[in-house]
Amino acid sequence: MRKNIVAGNWKMNKTLQEGTALARDLQTALHGKTLQCEVVICTPFIHLTSVAGVIAGSKVQLGAQNCADHVSGAYTGEVSAAMVASTGAQYVILGHSERRAYYGETNAILKEKVKLALENNLTPIFCIGEVLGEREAGTHFEIVKSQIEEALFGLPEDDFHKIVLAYEPVWAIGTGKTATPAQAQEMHAFIRRTIIDKYGDGIANDTSILYGGSANADNAKELFSNPDVDGGLIGGASLSVEKFLPIVEAF
Ligand code: 13P
Repeated sequence: MRKNIVAGNWKMNKTLQEGTALARDLQTALHGKTLQCEVVICTPFIHLTSVAGVIAGSKVQLGAQNCADHVSGAYTGEVSAAMVASTGAQYVILGHSERRAYYGETNAILKEKVKLALENNLTPIFCIGEVLGEREAGTHFEIVKSQIEEALFGLPEDDFHKIVLAYEPVWAIGTGKTATPAQAQEMHAFIRRTIIDKYGDGIANDTSILYGGSANADNAKELFSNPDVDGGLIGGASLSVEKFLPIVEAF
């Protein structure tokens, strides 16, 4: 059965000291609680090792926000999947729309990143989603399908089975404009059908599909109540325990 997951994407926020303090406060807040979802925080690279120490033995799991598309070598400024894994992180966000838009990440590049992440036992949280113009033009299903096909459908069943997907309509990210629960459900169901067509019911029903884009304490419950919405990838509202905890508890 698929897992419910609430993952925080801190993006480029928090100094090391602020980040470790937030991780500590979060694990304290969750201590002793019975949760209906896994909780993951995806921090900047430089926070990973320290945060891994802070959350060790707690309910909080750790992820990075990116990894390189090469194994190792002369790639100044890059961080490999093996390096991410060596910090104790279990997850890595790949294909976030900000990486696609500002750093030229294509489906072909992302295919390499996914392969390296899996080789290093990291679970990719693979982001897909259309921009506003594509939704207005009615091509959003096509776009999302091609993102999945080009980056992920080369994977053997066993590997695809390890992927977590995050549907993040770009027009909803950081805008305060959330997809309606009906829009989220419609796209998530479409994504699951796309997976059924390629890998069959068993794998499709096991795949967690998260929603991201201005999710918050007020809308999380309604979003998560949809049958094909298995959690959230949370940006702004993951930056304080006060805002993040009610989303975790929305399950
Ligand atoms: P916001 O929750 O800030 O809209 O960001 C969503 C996101 O991009 C998570 O990856």
